[in-house]
Amino acid sequence: RMADEELEERIIRVKQDWGRRLFIPGHHYQKDEVIQFADARGDSLKLAQLSATQHDAEAIVFCGVHFMAETADLLTREDQHVFLPDMRAGCSMADMADIRQTERAWEQLTALFGDTILPLTYVNSTAAIKSFVGEHGGATVTSSNAADMVTWAFTQKPRLLFLPDQHLGRNTACDLGIPLEKMAVWDPVQEELVGSGVMDEVQVILWKGHCSVHENFTTVNVDHIRAEYPDMKIIVHPECSREVVEASDISGSTNAIIQSIEQSPPGSAWAIGTEMNLVNRIIQKHPDKHILSLNPKMCPCLTMNRIDLPHLTWALESLAEGHPPNRIKVEEQVAGPARIALNRMLDHA
Ligand code: 13P
Ligand code: SF4
Repeated sequence: RMADEELEERIIRVKQDWGRRLFIPGHHYQKDEVIQFADARGDSLKLAQLSATQHDAEAIVFCGVHFMAETADLLTREDQHVFLPDMRAGCSMADMADIRQTERAWEQLTALFGDTILPLTYVNSTAAIKSFVGEHGGATVTSSNAADMVTWAFTQKPRLLFLPDQHLGRNTACDLGIPLEKMAVWDPVQEELVGSGVMDEVQVILWKGHCSVHENFTTVNVDHIRAEYPDMKIIVHPECSREVVEASDISGSTNAIIQSIEQSPPGSAWAIGTEMNLVNRIIQKHPDKHILSLNPKMCPCLTMNRIDLPHLTWALESLAEGHPPNRIKVEEQVAGPARIALNRMLDHA
């Protein structure tokens, strides 16, 4: 790998030449070597909102994963082009709900429940899923507004289908006081609905998807922290399982995690259940606090990590040379309803 300093200089050169015509959003889970060049860093909601306000930007080089770049494309003007430095930077959770599976699920679920279901999708989903949701009256949600959006969904229909993260869906519904017996899980592979209560009384249908990073935090990790550091507070992302969230002290979105730790007094002790790059940055930023990853192995999002210094350099230089790579463009047929789903959320946020 070429010397990092050389790559850094080349990135700085393009950034200087392009000025405000170039915007680089960076998700909090990105590597340090990349996030240092981000014009804004944030969680998925903040980045979606910010992309929509970059009126001078001709090019948006998204340091995040594919669905985030799609969202940026959906919220920006036709003449603003979005690029992803590495096309392999996908999201395993978003890939767990494909549009064909969703259409088949919808057919079977509406045969069972009639016109009583509203679909909601976590922004961590493909544009095609957002489009499906928008067409059927639903909206997107993020981890920071899921409770508000689920509450809104129940003003529209008595049941909801929550895609694609069963954990965020279950944790949010539990926080709103919905009992577990009134939730069921749709298995897109077996094409069956699995629940412990009376099916007619089901209020929340959870798509059987999950995040392969947050599934690595377990109750064994929680027990270990409790035994080893009894004064430590445990804070986890709601993409963790219900058992882990229940065993922890606080659950919150990326932003809520950052804020909780920032607002805690010096000397506070925290174990954090979220992605490794963010945990490491929080540790470095707070030398006066005792902070650990809830899972001592640390948990990277491997697809996020595919965006690295060489890929960012290549993307920016190709752009500057007039042959920009990896444009993310959602086709118009899909984009219209997907935008409706996003805007229903942004109107609430
Ligand atoms: P937020 O940025 O909405 O907290 O989501 C976390 C995540 O998994 C992003 O992919
Ligand atoms: Fe997807 Fe999980 Fe990675 Fe977020 S952390 S991009 S949800 S795999």
